[in-house]
Amino acid sequence: MKILGINETTHDASVTLIEDGNILFAGHSERFSKQKNDWFTNDGLIECALSYGKPDTIAYYENRWLKKLRIATRGGFGGGKPYYLERKDLRWVPREAFSHHHSHAAAGYYTSKFDDAVIVVLDAIGEYNTSTIWVGEGKNLKRVYKKNHPFSFGLFYSAFTQLVGLKPNEEEYIMMGMAAYGDWTRYYNKVKEYFPSIDDQKYGFHNGILDWNETIDEQAKFDIAAAVQKVYEDRLVNFMAMAKKITNKRKLVFMGGCALNCAANTMLWRMFDDVWIMPNPGDAGSSLGAAAAAYGSHVNWEHPYLGYDLGGEYPVSEIMTELIRNKIAAVATGRAEYGPRALGNRSILADPRDPDIKDKVNLIKKRELFRPFAPVILEEHASKWFDMNYASPYMQYTPKCLKPDLIPSVVHKDGTSRVQTVNKEQHPGLYRLLSEWYAVTGVPILLNTSLNIKGQPLLNDENDILEWEKAYNTKIVR
Ligand SMILES: [Fe+2]
Repeated sequence: MKILGINETTHDASVTLIEDGNILFAGHSERFSKQKNDWFTNDGLIECALSYGKPDTIAYYENRWLKKLRIATRGGFGGGKPYYLERKDLRWVPREAFSHHHSHAAAGYYTSKFDDAVIVVLDAIGEYNTSTIWVGEGKNLKRVYKKNHPFSFGLFYSAFTQLVGLKPNEEEYIMMGMAAYGDWTRYYNKVKEYFPSIDDQKYGFHNGILDWNETIDEQAKFDIAAAVQKVYEDRLVNFMAMAKKITNKRKLVFMGGCALNCAANTMLWRMFDDVWIMPNPGDAGSSLGAAAAAYGSHVNWEHPYLGYDLGGEYPVSEIMTELIRNKIAAVATGRAEYGPRALGNRSILADPRDPDIKDKVNLIKKRELFRPFAPVILEEHASKWFDMNYASPYMQYTPKCLKPDLIPSVVHKDGTSRVQTVNKEQHPGLYRLLSEWYAVTGVPILLNTSLNIKGQPLLNDENDILEWEKAYNTKIVR
């Protein structure tokens, strides 16, 4: 039986097609429409999914009528008629809907290797829920705790993202990067007033921070970012401790947009025996979540390379030639990543030993100069280069770098790196590339950042490659 999971009418629409627990396709709307964080699905995306088969049923990621009611009564945004309903070929397919947080929880638990775990979902807001705790035992997934708006980790973080001049619901990751450049003590007490405790939440945040009465100069933006990150981390530790106590579980699945905060995620390894964060923990992962909830059991999760297929073998020797000649190689090959990070198939790879490479890549990408780049490393070498004793295949944690002088272009201001580890099963081509790079340089690490034109989503198909090559007058290795 084929199930088409759909997430739309919120930032970052996506669809997933599964068959008997196997994931046939999972992709983001933005990669087809070229509109970053596109709210609605489109024909290109749906047709690409349907090329893997016609669905017997559709699973929708939230209760849209309940959400409409919440928006009408409490404010916020989202809603609208899902685009897929316009398509004649999908109109008569039977469908069911799962709550927003149920879809998040199912995406996490049913892609994990755990059969006994606590699942924590923290985001801005679903229908009404903003923070939920679930227990996963065998096939069963049961909610054991909920907290509704106005309490919200996500809305708190987004409101301050807006306050420092960034785009809420999109650029939270930039504010997280800014935190390393700020002094958290300057605004900690003031920021904490906006998020005092679980039971004393007075701000709704839907309209942003309206009563900030101090001037925000350039340094203040970084100090506010640092304070917000610190308050978020302190509250997160409290919430996770509560989840552990309520459920008595030692394995954690963490989902919702808040699970994209990789700096805070790093702390979770000190609290739990094992941690799983699905590589697409925000709303875009909920098309898979809804499909998995409808399936009602674990799906066969192997890797996130589930989107549009460019075909081809991983071009290891061509990438090596580019890296040795130019220190930078743009790569587009195989299936696109499902999730926000480029993990090797739509990536710019570069030599992390060169201190000037960061500025060169930033120039290509026209990004803010303070923003760090991530390293991709052979898994068996990870603990020698970074303070970590776990794998991080999806760039979800930021351990301290142990040899920052040797790889200056992938170490953040605070001495940490957002590490991607690679083993042979996960991505044989990338593993082979890193092994060859290690043999030549003695460093098992490359810089890895997303291949996109500024302001646009990750490259997806052949047309995007031509456009990129024209814009930058360079060849993409494929
Ligand atoms: Fe969400």
